Amino acid sequence: MNLFNSPSAWEIEDLKSDNNWCFEVADTDRKQLTNSIKTVFDKDRDLFDYSPDEFDFGSSWKIIESAIKEAHHGKGLSIVKGLPREDLNHKEFRLLSWAIGLRTGVARPQGLASQYISAVRDIGTDYRAANGRGYSSNAELDFHVDVADLTILTCYNQAKSGGQSLISSGVTAHNYLFKERPDLAEAAYQFFYFSRQEEQAADEKPFYSLPLFEEMNGNLFCNWNRNRVQSAQNLKGVPKLSKLQQETMDALDEILIRPELMYTMYLEPGDMQIINNYRIFHSRTGYVDYENDLQKRCLYRLWLAPPDSIELPESWRDFYRSVGSAMVRGGIIGQSYDKSCKDFDKTHSKFLNMKIDAS
Ligand SMILES: [Fe+2]
Repeated sequence: MNLFNSPSAWEIEDLKSDNNWCFEVADTDRKQLTNSIKTVFDKDRDLFDYSPDEFDFGSSWKIIESAIKEAHHGKGLSIVKGLPREDLNHKEFRLLSWAIGLRTGVARPQGLASQYISAVRDIGTDYRAANGRGYSSNAELDFHVDVADLTILTCYNQAKSGGQSLISSGVTAHNYLFKERPDLAEAAYQFFYFSRQEEQAADEKPFYSLPLFEEMNGNLFCNWNRNRVQSAQNLKGVPKLSKLQQETMDALDEILIRPELMYTMYLEPGDMQIINNYRIFHSRTGYVDYENDLQKRCLYRLWLAPPDSIELPESWRDFYRSVGSAMVRGGIIGQSYDKSCKDFDKTHSKFLNMKIDAS
């Protein structure tokens, strides 16, 4: 155990004093992107059938690529403003998000239905239920990581009120915990149990285990999700949380929301947020929607395995299924992972020169 000094170990002042994590697409590029999406879009075509070569990003790709690099290998977080939104309908904007994903990595499935892109919008899900998920609810969420190296979130509509994005660095939180309570930091290096929220594949248990922090090859790997830890307490075979573990969880959550450490922002239509999930924890406040369906809060989310990924600790295999560098890993395989999903994974991993586990 030691302190980690890296660009992802930021505090609010660091984000404010250096905006190398904020990017913007120029007006001319935005027009070109709009034209490209409208030309390629076909309402009868499955997303799996589009090829990355079909989209002309023009010089906007340099901007997007730099943002992905910053999120992946720098601060763990980046923002791109100014994606075309005004002239694209829901489905066209969804295709734009998918196209960005096609160039960035292999998209991973995100739940029971093995969906490769999720519309983040409220369909009345109970977040705290045994099978609850945050993305389909309007609830305030716990700080957590998503189940892939990178998350890309593109904003189509904001909420009427609320829905503020909350970001805190897992690396910074680790350092504070280590400095202030080394005994709890040590507990955080031990295994915790997380529920799969009843979305396990046929070959998976209903829970997975993983330390909150682990060091390997000079890198710190961070993982957190209180809701899933609490939920796992009701599952057979999961040990009860010790007092020390509960104290660790409380101390970690208290550090994450300190005003000097937690970054808050409202994603606006046309914004894209990119997050490295083994460095950064994220959350969101509860929200109220507009009445009109077309105005309701809607973001599109991709979970991506990028080709330049680094090796993960062996303990992450239970969570990501594969841990090697440049592997297609992560995602919630779910229960509809059919031939079309397998074919997409195979074809696209070949395109990006990535490896895929035979299983
Ligand atoms: Fe999330």
